[in-house]
Amino acid sequence: MAGNQVRDAQSCREGDHGKFEVKTSDGWARIGIFHTSTHMLGTPTLLPVVNPNIQTISPMEMWEIGFEALITNSYIIWKTEKLKERALSEGVHKLLEFPGVVMTDSGVFQQYVYGDVEIGEVEVVDFQRDIGVDIATMMDVFGRPDMTFDELNDAVMETASRGPDALKAAGETLLNGPIQGGPNIELRTKSANLMSEMDFAVHPIGGIVPLMENQRYTDLIKIIVASKSKLTPERPVHLFGCGHPILFPISVALGVDLFDSAAYALFAKDGRLLSPTGTVKLADINEWPFTSPALWGHSPEEVRKMDKEERTEILARHNLQVTYSELARCREAIRNGTIWNLVEERSHSNAELRAATLWLYSNMPSDLILNSNPCRQGGVNFYSDIENNPRINHSKSWISWNSPPIDHLGNVIDPSNRVLVIIYGVRGPWRDTIGDFVGNIVRDWPNIAPIIYTPIGLIPFQLEDLNPFAHLIAPKNEFSCSLDEIMAHAEELENSNCIFWDASKEENSYEVFEEEAKNQMGGLGEKMPDGHGSIKDVKTHFQLFGICDKINIFTGLGSDVCHSIANKITFVMSRTKRVNNILLDGVHIFSQRLTDGGLSFTNEGAKWVHETMGEENCMPIVVVDSDAEPFIRAGRNVMHGFVVSCKGYPKNGMPCLITNDRGELVGHGIAQCGEREMRTFRKGIAVKVRGGINLEGD
Ligand code: GUN
Repeated sequence: MAGNQVRDAQSCREGDHGKFEVKTSDGWARIGIFHTSTHMLGTPTLLPVVNPNIQTISPMEMWEIGFEALITNSYIIWKTEKLKERALSEGVHKLLEFPGVVMTDSGVFQQYVYGDVEIGEVEVVDFQRDIGVDIATMMDVFGRPDMTFDELNDAVMETASRGPDALKAAGETLLNGPIQGGPNIELRTKSANLMSEMDFAVHPIGGIVPLMENQRYTDLIKIIVASKSKLTPERPVHLFGCGHPILFPISVALGVDLFDSAAYALFAKDGRLLSPTGTVKLADINEWPFTSPALWGHSPEEVRKMDKEERTEILARHNLQVTYSELARCREAIRNGTIWNLVEERSHSNAELRAATLWLYSNMPSDLILNSNPCRQGGVNFYSDIENNPRINHSKSWISWNSPPIDHLGNVIDPSNRVLVIIYGVRGPWRDTIGDFVGNIVRDWPNIAPIIYTPIGLIPFQLEDLNPFAHLIAPKNEFSCSLDEIMAHAEELENSNCIFWDASKEENSYEVFEEEAKNQMGGLGEKMPDGHGSIKDVKTHFQLFGICDKINIFTGLGSDVCHSIANKITFVMSRTKRVNNILLDGVHIFSQRLTDGGLSFTNEGAKWVHETMGEENCMPIVVVDSDAEPFIRAGRNVMHGFVVSCKGYPKNGMPCLITNDRGELVGHGIAQCGEREMRTFRKGIAVKVRGGINLEGD
């Protein structure tokens, strides 16, 4: 694993060579392990470019900083007789004195920069295999942005046609299959489809250096999205030649696993320092705007006065250190669910990057949104355009509800009489801030459906504790809005009987509510006489229908089915007076998580859903191999490689049922990826099993 202490290289286990395993993911962003023969490589990571002739920083020092892999150029080694001989006799790891993963490029970049190279397409792969690299690169055809469509198409087709011979030459050596197509999206998707069909280990996205040099970041992001959408997901994706930290968060959020770059050395030679927010010229600064171990103890003035070699070395070391720490920051952001916050933050550092980010926000792939788990533990920092965050975007389409069909007295509500009271101006927990107000108004007018305004959308009062709505960290004024704005929101609800109630002005003052209702919609109709029902009955009613709505949200069984069981549901309260265990006809089927308001299934709950669901309203199902069935019934996780098929689109972080191929329920759990990944991955956990259904039926 990455980490800046000296560690041993760990080769992969037998059978794992070339497999990519995802440990944690969020949307398309993923933390993985790529299993190679010399080392299990943690991703996302960057491979510093090492020139075998000139080493500003030694490969061993790179390893000590925390870099687990490097990339060097096999063509340069091949062309330099002394290096070639040593590489062939001692192997490339010994030549470079590097214990980690060595990837080599094929000379295509030299071809792009200097014109022709003298080595054959198969010969270059033979050579990389013979010097013992971990990951070799085939000789692709570099698609330049100034090429015509036909020329770019030829580059894509020629690259693909060289694939089979290159793979044959590589043998057991892992091989990069680059994606070309220049800035043309149609050709990028074509290339991704063609290259996915062959047995490559990694897919670098090539031909992007000229785009990055000209800060054509929107083109770059379009290319990543197009390539990622078509590439088979179980292989790591590499951005060839991308090494500026400013591009890491957005690329990582889009599922890029590997980067490589000589930027650390090139920029250093040129007296420039890399930072996560841009590049700084040493000539322009009096103090370090950011620091690193390499700069400690030196002032900019002192570094300026050093001789060129010493200065370049310090700057190169600094550039590697900030590169390393920005990638660590990205990995940490994936782990704690904040990668899109980092994307937003970094986007403000550069106008072209901002434009690219805004393009992405408006063209977010639906697969990425649906695999961003909306309901998680912890607070969500609110910012003005938070709806661009895929998780928040997902949460809006995820909650679906219908108002309870009956009132707290058990009478059926005529939908045309239902009055929506949209309450705004106060923060949660709303059971505390407006619980009594809601209790009073619904007790007196049982046809009222209370709705809460949150800065990310309206939710029914009965879902008031559901994350992310319940856990927005925002100033109080964000929970207020103008009457025009709230009326626009209410239009989504397609009910013209609406009253808007600013609870910040009249907190819990239900006495003036009747007057306000008269002003807004001419009154609420007949008030219930005193003594009819109580606030407590109202609260229990909303707790019950909150349960029904959550069962619908987490199972997809539909409001009708979930509301129809309301009279058979009982529940046990926690010590903090929240619904905890949920029972159907006395059987414990779900538990409510007090941390995020979501539901956890019991085995009985999974069985009930499995028996109840129809063809249309069904929960996602992962169908497993018969070999895996006994293990899952015993409560073990579903491992990739044992998934036979999926139904109803499992989503990352969301519950799913697990059946055998006869459709019998064998367990339930939390999907660790989306449907595409379920079908293709060969290593790692596909479903974290929460309960196995053993054959005796428990
Ligand atoms: N290095 C930077 N870009 C490329 C590319 O498109 N192909 C190869 N092979 N190497 C690269």
